Amino acid sequence: MSRRMLIAGNWKMNKTPQETEAFINELLPTLPSDPGADVLIIPPFTSLDRAGRLLSHAALALGAQDLHFEPSGAFTGAVSGAMLAACGCRYVLVGHSERRHIFGDSDADLSRKLNAALDAGLHPILCLGETLEERTRGEMEAVVTRQLTSVCEALRRAGDTGVSYAYEPVWAIGTGETAAPEQAQEASRFVRTWIGETLAPSAAEAARILYGGSVKPGNACELLSPPDIDGALIGGASLRPDAFAEIIAAAQTGD
Ligand code: PGA
Repeated sequence: MSRRMLIAGNWKMNKTPQETEAFINELLPTLPSDPGADVLIIPPFTSLDRAGRLLSHAALALGAQDLHFEPSGAFTGAVSGAMLAACGCRYVLVGHSERRHIFGDSDADLSRKLNAALDAGLHPILCLGETLEERTRGEMEAVVTRQLTSVCEALRRAGDTGVSYAYEPVWAIGTGETAAPEQAQEASRFVRTWIGETLAPSAAEAARILYGGSVKPGNACELLSPPDIDGALIGGASLRPDAFAEIIAAAQTGD
């Protein structure tokens, strides 16, 4: 089965609505009508409404960086899945390592967030990955297994194509250090095998597994070529339209 690549730019806490508009206006004309991959930008909450209006008919999709697990209520500072969908989001990140490690999102929170995303009709991208200490201790597989197992029921509910995955070793995020393509392939293969054994073989075939961690124009091609890598989740290099466009182009050649 050939899976269509997904190239996602996670802007983190960067860009005002005005800067978001300028980015979209610069990127869109450079994209071919079919870029050969699904392409997604993930701006901060405050830019989503503006981006959603600009992208309503465009080949560029919109995602959010996080959501709350309740649909509404007294949760100061939080944003629900329905609010994101109403801004035009189709995707939402769940369990990005900065959410896990800086904001303390627990495995139990993430299970509820996955369910909340599905309830709102959003496509979650579940982020997985080990810290440097965990990798040094040889625990990559144990950590990823724990992260997957704790949300297993929500993944089952999502069906074969209702969720995507991003393997992002924490030691490669924002550090300039990337996993070797063989390490990224090994981890993605491990995730796919877990999906096949725990959920369903058809889910393993269909699952899109992205690599994230210091992906740039110069390394995108080799990081996108291993057989179990179906796209990239890009932080820093997604903030410049020209660099992001180069990575999108690499997805076509690495396919
Ligand atoms: P980076 O971020 O590309 O800046 O390393 C990746 C991510 O956090 O998704």
